[in-house]
Amino acid sequence: MADSSTEYILRTHNLVKRYKNVAALDHVSINIRRSTIHGLLGENGAGKSTLVSLISGLTAPTEGTITFAGEQVQGFDVKQMEALGVFLVTQEPMIVESMSVADNLMLGRWPVKRGRGLMKTVDQRALLANAVAALEGTGLDPRMPARTLSAVAKRKLNILRALHSGGKLLILDEPTAALTLADRDHLFGFMRSLKAQGVSFVFISHYNEEILGICDAVSVLRNGRLAGEMDDISSITSDNLSELVIGRDVPLFYRDRATRHAHATSEGWRVEGLVAPNIAVGNFTIAPGEIVGFAGLPGSGAKEFGLSLFGLNHAKQGHITHGAQRYGFAQHPEDAFARGIAYLSDDRHRDGLVGLQSIAQNITLSSLGKVSRAGVIDAFAEKQVVKRYFDHLRVKAVAPSVLLGALSGGNQQKVCLGRVLATDPKLLILDEPTRGIDVGVKEEVHRIIDALTREGLSVIVITSDLDEMVRMVDRVCIFVGGQIEQEFTGADIDKDAILQAAFGTALAN
Ligand SMILES: Nc1ncnc2c1ncn2[C@@H]1O[C@H](COP(=O)(O)OP(=O)(O)OP(=O)(O)O)[C@@H](O)[C@H]1O
Ligand SMILES: [Mg+2]
Repeated sequence: MADSSTEYILRTHNLVKRYKNVAALDHVSINIRRSTIHGLLGENGAGKSTLVSLISGLTAPTEGTITFAGEQVQGFDVKQMEALGVFLVTQEPMIVESMSVADNLMLGRWPVKRGRGLMKTVDQRALLANAVAALEGTGLDPRMPARTLSAVAKRKLNILRALHSGGKLLILDEPTAALTLADRDHLFGFMRSLKAQGVSFVFISHYNEEILGICDAVSVLRNGRLAGEMDDISSITSDNLSELVIGRDVPLFYRDRATRHAHATSEGWRVEGLVAPNIAVGNFTIAPGEIVGFAGLPGSGAKEFGLSLFGLNHAKQGHITHGAQRYGFAQHPEDAFARGIAYLSDDRHRDGLVGLQSIAQNITLSSLGKVSRAGVIDAFAEKQVVKRYFDHLRVKAVAPSVLLGALSGGNQQKVCLGRVLATDPKLLILDEPTRGIDVGVKEEVHRIIDALTREGLSVIVITSDLDEMVRMVDRVCIFVGGQIEQEFTGADIDKDAILQAAFGTALAN
């Protein structure tokens, strides 16, 4: 029988983490084998990020212990866990943009030499030589300024930095959130090659296909408790995984394109002659109640078009017709807002969520005009709006008065979405609306948007989640080189066809 010290790189024993009277983790014991990729699954607020913050030493548990390579860990702090070889690769890559790749790789561990007098200076030559050796075969150039790196290259650099510092167990908490499909496959290939060299990973994701594609084993959390674990997931299906996470079958939502309520097209939106940075669209229309998906590589114009409509990518030419009204492009979100256009950005930090305000305040922040009369906030109206989205989106908190900062990542995203929906827009632009949202609530979001379109809302969805795209839109516009190159409607909307058209390639798996 294998000695536990060689079989497992890390084990947790009855870990408990309480915040005031809320148990974020409740007696969780998991076992991570060496040279494996271990998936950590669970609904929004289940405790995944809390668990990895304990494993990486960021937070101390209320109760419980951790063993690393068979030895019990004494005390909890990041330095100590890093010394053992446990690294949390954060979602926002910790990269100093102004420094070179080599400097970033050895951040804070630069080789030094004696300079004039007794002054120590960084030994640039040794630094570069070390970096060249460490980066061989990774495709990263040690001399490049870090600011020129792509999102996936920054993520790789973070992983390499951890390895270079002796990393044996790397923790990735939703690492694919800012990556394109191609970048994601690239990252997975990189992880597999490191696994073959003996590195272990904890990998958190809400995407079943990612878990099934890369993980060997999984642990599932539900309400802070371990709800299931599987040592070998090679024979399980995506439905099995969803059921493990939610505790019941999750029926996928499919928009009924055929019986879509027909609204008079005269009230729709028409864009003509748009010219803005990285985008030029001669003609685009969207009918009331229609959902149009935008797909394309970064820089293809898909995001830029959405930004232009909302006044964040300044149009030099072009105008919009909505019903009987015709105007130039908004040069500021305020103008777009006034015309009934709302926008959900793919970055909730940029969207200005306020951690130190309550969930309720964050939901109504953009729609204060709607819940106030003569400048006085109508408390009753405000409560109704808040309750609607708090309940509908199943925000996991005891009450809407809870501070936003105490919510899990996915629950913050729900609040963001609630905020744009609360503005009661006529044209809604959603950039990665379900990023970070769990498999159950994702279906609920699709249902809510579908229901709103039946009241006449027009929706543009920009998403890299093509399964989501295929199930929820009426039409797909493919952007290439700043223009709409192709369209698919109805039954022609197909994942492979979109992949081929938008990315020029059929991606592996
Ligand atoms: N600082 C804190 N104060 C109070 N409660 C907290 C704090 N940090 C986390 N929690 C609570 O702990 C629970 C677990 O949160 P955690 O962030 O671990 O969830 P998660 O599984 O990572 O979810 P997500 O998929 O949304 O990222 C949540 O109910 C959250 O509200
Ligand atoms: Mg989390």
